[in-house]
Amino acid sequence: MKHLLSINDLTASEAISILDTAAQLENLTSGTVKKLPTLRGRTVVNLFFEDSTRTRLSFDAAAKRLSADVTNFAAKGSSVSKGESLKDTAQTLQAMGADAIVIRHSASGAAKRLAESGWVSSSIINAGDGTHEHPTQALLDAFTIRKHFGPIRSDFVGLKVAIVGDIVHSRVARSNVLLLKKLGADVTVIAPPTLIPYGIENWGVAHSFNLDDELESFDVVMMLRVQLERMNEAYFPNGREYSRGYGLDEVRLGRLKHDAIVMHPGPMNRGLEISAAS
Ligand code: CP
Repeated sequence: MKHLLSINDLTASEAISILDTAAQLENLTSGTVKKLPTLRGRTVVNLFFEDSTRTRLSFDAAAKRLSADVTNFAAKGSSVSKGESLKDTAQTLQAMGADAIVIRHSASGAAKRLAESGWVSSSIINAGDGTHEHPTQALLDAFTIRKHFGPIRSDFVGLKVAIVGDIVHSRVARSNVLLLKKLGADVTVIAPPTLIPYGIENWGVAHSFNLDDELESFDVVMMLRVQLERMNEAYFPNGREYSRGYGLDEVRLGRLKHDAIVMHPGPMNRGLEISAAS
């Protein structure tokens, strides 16, 4: 596999193999070995046209731990703000000899466009494209779930996962649904009707407008950020109403199974989709 653009690029066994490799690397690098030579002599460019904290830092740290040379590019402060196109930016990276480009972009499909353009010969990793996908976040989430439940279950089959909140704008939700379904989990998306995507029936998951209905039944509750920056109309009356219907507070937290886990990809709107106590 040359690129990772979507969870659809992976079979279930390839995804499990990535999780296994990540677990081995975690074991190795948590001991005395801090760096591996795997990517020595390779150049990785982190090309971020949208803001990021976790994803950019993670890719930077991962490439460095594998001994790659890393260049971090943020659109802010670059010639993109003078109108330079994705093509011209990409060709500059090609001239630098980038072996891999990790791209985050506000346009859905940007990573695929770069991979299929012929502008670069690099491997492309999608670090989030618009509202479309965030495949490495889903892999990380599956890794976290597996680590938590590893001692008590050997796979994801039948694991009950709720994904709650701003589904319509969430690339994290799309990638998680694809991956968790592929691995055999039983996924329900929960949101107000305005934040459930059109055509949800075709996602192959259950959906609900009520967070309180089956809260006790879930093994994993994944809360999503309300993406106010992508909302150009009112999707709910106000923040208080949203929290009342769909926020994870102490009362709802107390209703979860004793071994359930709460996840959030970050950044979090504390007090909106999740209370400070959660
Ligand atoms: N989860 C996630 O993608 O976080 P950042 O936007 O900080 O990278």
